[in-house]
Amino acid sequence: MAKKLYIKTYGCQMNVYDSARMADVLAPLGYGAAESPADADMVILNTCHIRERASEKVFSELGRLRQARAERRDETGADMIIAVAGCVAQAEGAEILRRAPEVDIVLGPQTYHRLPEMVARATRARSLKDGRKRRGAGVLDTDFPPESKFDHLPAPAPGQAVSAFLAVQEGCDKFCTFCVVPYTRGAEFSRPVAQIVQEARALVAAGGREITLLGQNVNAYHGEAPNGSEWGLGRLVRHLAEAVDGLLRIRYMTSHPRDMDDDLIAAHAAVPQLMPFLHLPVQSGSDRVLEAMNRQHKARLFYQIVERLRAARPDLALSSDFIVGFPGETEADFEATLKLVEEVGFAQAFSFKYSIRPGTPGAAMDNQVAEAVKDERLQRLQAVLNAQQVAFNRATVGRVLPVLLEKPGRRAGQLVGRSPHLQAVHAPADQSEIGTVVDLRIEDIGHFSLSGSRVPSEQRASRSTFDTLQEAVA
Ligand code: 5AD
Ligand code: SF4
Repeated sequence: MAKKLYIKTYGCQMNVYDSARMADVLAPLGYGAAESPADADMVILNTCHIRERASEKVFSELGRLRQARAERRDETGADMIIAVAGCVAQAEGAEILRRAPEVDIVLGPQTYHRLPEMVARATRARSLKDGRKRRGAGVLDTDFPPESKFDHLPAPAPGQAVSAFLAVQEGCDKFCTFCVVPYTRGAEFSRPVAQIVQEARALVAAGGREITLLGQNVNAYHGEAPNGSEWGLGRLVRHLAEAVDGLLRIRYMTSHPRDMDDDLIAAHAAVPQLMPFLHLPVQSGSDRVLEAMNRQHKARLFYQIVERLRAARPDLALSSDFIVGFPGETEADFEATLKLVEEVGFAQAFSFKYSIRPGTPGAAMDNQVAEAVKDERLQRLQAVLNAQQVAFNRATVGRVLPVLLEKPGRRAGQLVGRSPHLQAVHAPADQSEIGTVVDLRIEDIGHFSLSGSRVPSEQRASRSTFDTLQEAVA
C-alpha cells in the first residue's frame, strides 16, 4: 500500500536538495508526498543549525508532531515514524533521542542514503502491541561514513522542480570563526564530473530547466574530470552548458570571495546559460573584522572581484550575506560595511546579527557586542540594503525580461517564474507553459514579486535591454 511522507525543510538550499534526495531514496519503499504531517506515515524534520534557537525550534516542532501522531493513531489506528535529519541532528545526535523519546530516527547530512535500513530498524522497534517503541530503541546514524552518499542515491524521480538544485560540493575547510558548517557538514568534498553530468541530465529529463549548482563552498569545487584531471567550477559550468541538452539556465551558490578564480569569472562572460546573478557573501567591509572572522581576505579583494565580474558580465547583479556585531566590531568597522554596501550596490542581500554558536572560536571571544548595538546596526544596514533592492526592482519597470515560468501563481490563470536576476515575476500564462522562458514587460513591483505582461514576439527583448540595470543601484 502507498505510504505518505512529509518532509519539513529548514535552512539553506543544500537542505532543500537533501530533502528532495531523501524523498527519492524513500520512493522505492512506496513513500509518496503527503499534504500535511497529520496524514503522513513518516515525517522528517530536515533541520538547520546555522544560527541560535535552531534546536529549540526543533524540539517545539517535535512536541506538535507527538500530538499529531497521537491524534492520528486515535482516529485511524495508523502509526507515524518521526525522523530528525540535517545539521541539528548532526550536532545534537543522541541528545535528541534522550530529550524527545517520540523520535524514531536521528540522521546526519551524510547518511541519508541509508534511510531504508534505518526505517526498517525503526519499524521493528515499534513492534510493541500499542505501537510504542521499546525504550532506548531510537535509531541514530550521524556518522561521517567512508562511502559517499552520492554513490548510493537513485536517479531523481519524475516531477522535479523547473528550477532544481544539484549538490556538486559539500562541507567546508575554511573554518570562519562564526560558523558551524565545518563541524556539521564535515570536510570539503567535490563530486566527480561524470556523476554531476548524469544527475543534471536526469534532472532535466524529470522536468528541470534551470539548475543551481550547490555547495557550502561551491566555487572551491575541484572534482575529478573524465580524463582524470581536476576541474574547477568554471570548467564544470562550461561543460554542463555544452553537455546537457535542454538545460536553459545555470546558477551556483554559495561562493567564497577567495575562490573566485579567473576561469570562473571568464565563464560569466562566455556561457550564456550562466545567469547574471551571483550570491557572494562578504560578511563585513572591515579588514579587522574579516581577519577576526578568519575570512582570509581583505575588503579590497571583494571590490576587485566585483569589478572583474562586471567587466566580464556588465548586467551582473549581486547578492551577499552580512553579519553585524561580530565580537570586537566597532562603529568604524560597521561603517566600513555600510560603505562597501553603498559602493558595490546589491540587488538583494541577507543580513544577520552575529549569533554565538557553541564550539566555534567566535563563541569564546571575550569582546562580544551588546545586543542593543547589534539591533541598531542591523536596522541601519537593512535600511540601506532594502532601499537598494527596491531601486533595483523599480528599474525593471517598463523593461522586458526573459522569465522562466516555474509554477502556478497567486491567482488563477497566472504563473510565477524568475527573471535572470532571480526576481519572482507573476504573469498571465497557461499551465502548459511551465518550464518555458517567455518575455515579459514588467509593469509593477510588489513586496515579494514583480508583475509583467506578455510581449508579442516582434517586440522581443535582446539581452542588452537589461544590460545596464545595475546602474540603477550603483
Ligand atoms: N551568526 C550570524 N550569522 C551567521 N551566518 C553563519 N553563521 C552565523 C552566525 N554564527 C550567516 C553568514 C552565512 C549565512 C549562511 O549565515 O552570513 O553566510
Ligand atoms: Fe561557514 Fe565560512 Fe565555510 Fe561558509 S566558508 S560554510 S561561512 S566556514
